[in-house]
Amino acid sequence: MTASKKAKAKPAAKASRIDWTTKTALVTGANRGIGLETARQLGQAGCKIVLAARDLQLGEEAAQPLVAEGLRVRVEKLDVSDEQSVKDCARRLKKSRVGVDILVNNAGIYDRTPIMELETETFMQVFRTNTLGALWCSQAFIPGMVERQWGRVVMVSSGLGTFSRGMLGHPCYAISKAALNALTIKLAQATPDVVKINAVRPGWVKTRLAGALGKDSVETGAERVVHLALLPDDGPSGGYFRGKRPSRW
Ligand SMILES: NC(=O)c1ccc[n+]([C@@H]2O[C@H](COP(=O)([O-])OP(=O)(O)OC[C@H]3O[C@@H](n4cnc5c(N)ncnc54)[C@H](OP(=O)(O)O)[C@@H]3O)[C@@H](O)[C@H]2O)c1
Repeated sequence: MTASKKAKAKPAAKASRIDWTTKTALVTGANRGIGLETARQLGQAGCKIVLAARDLQLGEEAAQPLVAEGLRVRVEKLDVSDEQSVKDCARRLKKSRVGVDILVNNAGIYDRTPIMELETETFMQVFRTNTLGALWCSQAFIPGMVERQWGRVVMVSSGLGTFSRGMLGHPCYAISKAALNALTIKLAQATPDVVKINAVRPGWVKTRLAGALGKDSVETGAERVVHLALLPDDGPSGGYFRGKRPSRW
């Protein structure tokens, strides 16, 4: 069965007996926007949080209200566009005996350059952040999930990189998210089903990235991500979701 068929075959939401207080969730780009709210909601669900940010100080400032809420938060410096930074973060966590059970590949940037004016450097920076960053984080943390026979990975993708919707986003961003979707399928195919790997379209969310186009609250956007991060053990893998509903790629 193909990964996408697997995703359709199983319902996404079923009552789960998973003790989320035993799980650690790492969220990239978690110092603001959807990432920060995803970290908060996962913390409120009981998970220990690794709040990852490329600027440590911004990460620590963002963590303060979560800590004040009583959530268990560790802040890590992680620039997803830098493979060495990903490896360094993974090494520090391993040294502290922190196993990442839930990975949310959220960090992302937007670019509006028209395709004929696109320079390699711009393309690579967007691609390194939105696509390769997710690959490097997956390579760093999925093996531990497989070893522990449990894991969840969520790729925060975008309707703008969706072929069935005509790839409507600006070129570089749309291509990077379409590639992220392809990466989701390939990772799910290569990983046992105990690790659920899915991509989500969070909708138009009121963040700095969406600017004036944002419609949904950051809480609603994050709920759509968290839904896949907290999938039950019979949940889908290798799927693409528009919020909580399956989406065409
Ligand atoms: N908002 C929407 O409507 C929407 C729709 C579809 C998909 N998305 C996706 O949702 C995700 C979150 O976006 P958002 O809307 O919450 O935007 P945002 O408020 O601009 O947040 C983006 C986050 O990514 C971080 N980031 C950027 N480059 C990074 C890097 N190299 N390493 C680590 N972190 C990095 C930013 O950190 P700094 O503060 O250091 O810049 C920030 O924390 C993105 O992947 C985006 O493509 C958003």
